[in-house]
Amino acid sequence: MALITKAVRGTRDVLPHESQALRYIERTALELAQAYGYAELRTPVFEHTELFERGMGDTTDVVQKEMYTFFDKGGRSVTLRPEGTAGAARACLEHGLLAEALPCKVSYVLRCYRYEKPQAGRYREFSQFGVECFGAATPAADAELIALAAETLATLSVTDTRVEINSIGCPECRKRYLDALRAHFAQRQSELCETCQGRLEKNPMRILDCKSPVCAGIATEAPTVLEYICDACAEHFDGVKRYLDAIALPYEINPRIVRGLDYYTRTVFEILSEFPEAKGLVLAGGGRYDGLVEELGGQHTPSLGFGMGIERVWLQMQALQAPLPEKHLCELYIAAMNSDALQRAAQLAQELRASGWHVEYDIVGRSLKAQMKYADKIHAKNTVVLGEDELKNQRAKLKDMKTGAEELMTLPDFADEFERLMLRRVERDILEGFGDDVTPFPQP
Ligand code: HAM
Repeated sequence: MALITKAVRGTRDVLPHESQALRYIERTALELAQAYGYAELRTPVFEHTELFERGMGDTTDVVQKEMYTFFDKGGRSVTLRPEGTAGAARACLEHGLLAEALPCKVSYVLRCYRYEKPQAGRYREFSQFGVECFGAATPAADAELIALAAETLATLSVTDTRVEINSIGCPECRKRYLDALRAHFAQRQSELCETCQGRLEKNPMRILDCKSPVCAGIATEAPTVLEYICDACAEHFDGVKRYLDAIALPYEINPRIVRGLDYYTRTVFEILSEFPEAKGLVLAGGGRYDGLVEELGGQHTPSLGFGMGIERVWLQMQALQAPLPEKHLCELYIAAMNSDALQRAAQLAQELRASGWHVEYDIVGRSLKAQMKYADKIHAKNTVVLGEDELKNQRAKLKDMKTGAEELMTLPDFADEFERLMLRRVERDILEGFGDDVTPFPQP
């Protein structure tokens, strides 16, 4: 029984009180991305396994240990997407978007799946907001990308963050770095975990993001890639820093950022939480991946992007008590005293809902007293009671539940009069300085 009454480890339900906040985060992020020229792309939840193996690299932790891979009934190996970049590149290539005017800028909000050890801010199913910009090689593009990530967090009032940047060079200059890494790790080869022993020859850079404490300890003394980058990569990195300085975006250089995926080249960055309880939690990460499109069969297309963990952002917003839009409340509860009145309530509700108002009436057969109690419980902003007299006179009193003020409404014109009344109240609130328009989201 426990199996069907408990969610799978590492997954979480988003209950109604939370979904409104998450929707706000997602909408805010997508709208801001739009201001930077990004349009939303939606890709399937699963892709051919090979896409991720080729895209992210078959020696990465994500591919080697964390993918939800299975054979479908047709015997094809498919994988629940662990991230959004490979799918976005595949979709843009498949639909010819990269053959049109570049850059091609896409944004997304996706559910992702990784078989990781669950802990605060780390789940097996999680959501990412992300953007990908295909066909932009200049340092200005890198700075614009980092600015968008930072501004997304600032717009959501997520303060206490730190931007860290690094350059991990191009495949050419990285060859020398990989040799240096091999030499470093070879000295303590026998201490490395089994996976990292296998990575030593093929891709020693991936040892740097192994989560095993012994490998992580040996990695702290490893040489950093910034010491090995070529002149062209160094120049590009200087350009990124200049642009960031020009837009006054504070950052730190952290030569130890390598990111956990193979497709990155040159600029990489992370935005970390500085909030005491979540110190070091990576809220967003990304960078340049100039070789990915080619790796997937397209033309050489310098590209870049980032992913932001929506649950992590939400955790930080809660900790900071960041402001959220007012909780959406029922604007009108229509109480009915008999079955004729209930029918009229249903008609009125339909009419008002068609104009976008949140209207409710009794659908469970409550007494009038219980209906009013329920209206109170759902914090209905207004109520109206319909009974024999109201139907006969075609008039009813609308009560503002906050002030107690009553307005006499005519039933045939109810929808129009309600609309006008609500508009007058908005005007009044604006004149009074917005009143309580922005309030902290109530916690359960
Ligand atoms: P990533 O660093 O693996 O990069 O993930 C991006 C963000 O997703 C992380 O910074 C974190 O906030 C969130 N995240 C990752 N794993 C989890 C998890 N298990 N639970 C909760 N949140 C998580 C990528 O995925 C790249 N595709 C980003 C990118 C886009 N690079 C270029 N374009």
